[in-house]
Formats: sequence, structure tokens, C-alpha cells
Amino acid sequence: MKHILKSQQFSRQEIEKLFADTDHIRGLYEDPEKKKGLMTSLQGKTMFAIFYEPSSRTRFSFCSAAANLGMIPIWTEDAGKFSSAVKGETLEDSIHAFCQYDPSVIVLRHSEVGAAEKAAKIVDQFGYETSIINAGDGKGQHPTQALLDLYTIKREIGRLDDITVVVGGDLANGRTVRSLVYLLSKFERIQFVFLSPDNLKMGDDIINHLKEHDIKFTETENMKEALRVADIIYWTRVQTERGSINDTVDLTIGVEEMYLVKSGARLMHPLPRVGEIKTEIDHDSRSAYFRQIKNGKFTRMALLEDVCR
Ligand code: NCD
Repeated sequence: MKHILKSQQFSRQEIEKLFADTDHIRGLYEDPEKKKGLMTSLQGKTMFAIFYEPSSRTRFSFCSAAANLGMIPIWTEDAGKFSSAVKGETLEDSIHAFCQYDPSVIVLRHSEVGAAEKAAKIVDQFGYETSIINAGDGKGQHPTQALLDLYTIKREIGRLDDITVVVGGDLANGRTVRSLVYLLSKFERIQFVFLSPDNLKMGDDIINHLKEHDIKFTETENMKEALRVADIIYWTRVQTERGSINDTVDLTIGVEEMYLVKSGARLMHPLPRVGEIKTEIDHDSRSAYFRQIKNGKFTRMALLEDVCR
């Protein structure tokens, strides 16, 4: 794999191989004797994390993953303000410039849909040996988040087929849900329940993709009914920075709502949360959102091994 740009690029086989690699890396990492061995894997190679939009988890997840593989992570946290973008430099020219320092990989977060693809085009046209990883392109996609989400589902409920997934929140402007739906649609007998206010419904591109592939889905505003049928509840915040507003449907999950959820189901969230999951359920064993973060580091270690080797 050279670049990681969108969920559609992965086959089921590639996903299964990635998760086997992730389990392997996790096993080495958790064994004090073997952990050090991981450090030699990509020793001395460089990862640039260029973030034009805010991030806590994704940036630290990639930087920790890289450091744990012996790589040198170099990052900028607000490239929109502190890079030459302020002076009017195009993304293409910035990527051209970054490639002169020979990074093995550039992890890019940008506000523009398609930014990572634009960056990859420059890399390929000029024959640079650098990989591009899309760490979120506006309201487009966030494929590595979706991969770690899928890995979490596998770990938590032991399967990736025969799942009813309730996807709730801002489906119009949330990139994580878009990438996750594309990935899950590669598995068998998946059913989606999309739960959102009418103004934040899932985009037509995803709806058409599901119709084309004959994948069952329903759209609703009834949270209680949706929670009862879920094997996986994937919750998201309203993306106010992209102009989203929800003043019609209460999408808060707390102790009371968790009574409706099956005992074997799991509640996930890419985070940050801003009130839509109450902290009172953080100790509920079905709340998987913090375990999800840990899984992210291992999934990204496996991805870095793949693209940088
Ligand atoms: C998400 C993102 O940036 O899209 N966060 C993350 O990467 N874990 C979700 C969000 O910001 O709502």
C-alpha cells in the first residue's frame, strides 16, 4: 500500500490482514521482553504529521505509533496558522517542499475535501518515495479512524458480519461515520440504522452506495427504538465548526438510555464528545470509546509498518 486516502480502497482481505498485523504488534508491545524489538522496525525513518485542523487523538496516536516503531515523528499542530499557507502557499507547493526532506510518510489533516488525494497526486507525479495518509479531509473521510473503529468492533464483539449498527449524530458533516459506513459495507449482513435530525442526515453519496450494494438501512429520529436493536452504537458530536446545528432531537445517552441497550452491545464514539454521552456511563462495560483510542495506536502502528516498510 502506498497511500491511505479513503475507505473504498481497502478490500475485505486487506482489512483482515491489517487486523492480524495489529494483533501481532499488540502482542509484541504488551510483552516487556519483545517490546524493544518493535523499536528497530522502522528505525530512523521520519513521519511528518501536518495538521491544518485541530486534533488531539489522531495526532498523538500517530506520533505515539511512530515513536513506538523507532521512527522520528515531526509535527505541526496548526499548519493553517503557522506554515507558509498563511502567506498564500498552495497545498501542492507545501507537499513538494516537505518531500525534499524525504519523510517516509506525511500524515495530513486538512479542511478541504480531497486534500490528501491532491497531496498524493503531487507525490506520484514527481516520483517521491513518500506515502500520504489522510487523517481527515474536511467533511470527506477519515479512513484510519474507520479502520481502528472496525478493529474495535472485531475486538469487542468478536465478529464483523451480522451486525446491526446504529450510527447517530451529525451524519451530514461527520467524516468518521462516512468512512466507517464504506468500510462496514464490505462485510456480510450488515444493517444500518441512521439516527439524526432531519437537517443532519447521511449524504446521498453514501445512501446511493448502500442501495447499489443492496445493504439494508433505515433512517429515523427515534433514539429509543434504535438503541434497542443495536449491536454497535456509533455516536458522534454535532460538527458546529462546519455549520451544523441540532436544536430538534435530543441525542444524549446516559444511564437511562443504556437500560435499553443489549447486554452484549457496545457504545463507540470517535471523540471528542461534547455532552452527547454522559460521563456517568464511562464505567459501563459496554462503553468502548476509551478502549477505541488504545486500539487506534496499534492499528496505526500496523498501518505505518505497511506503508513505510
Ligand atoms: C474526529 C474527527 O476529527 O473527525 N475526531 C477524531 O479524529 N478522533 C471526530 C470529531 O472531531 O468529531
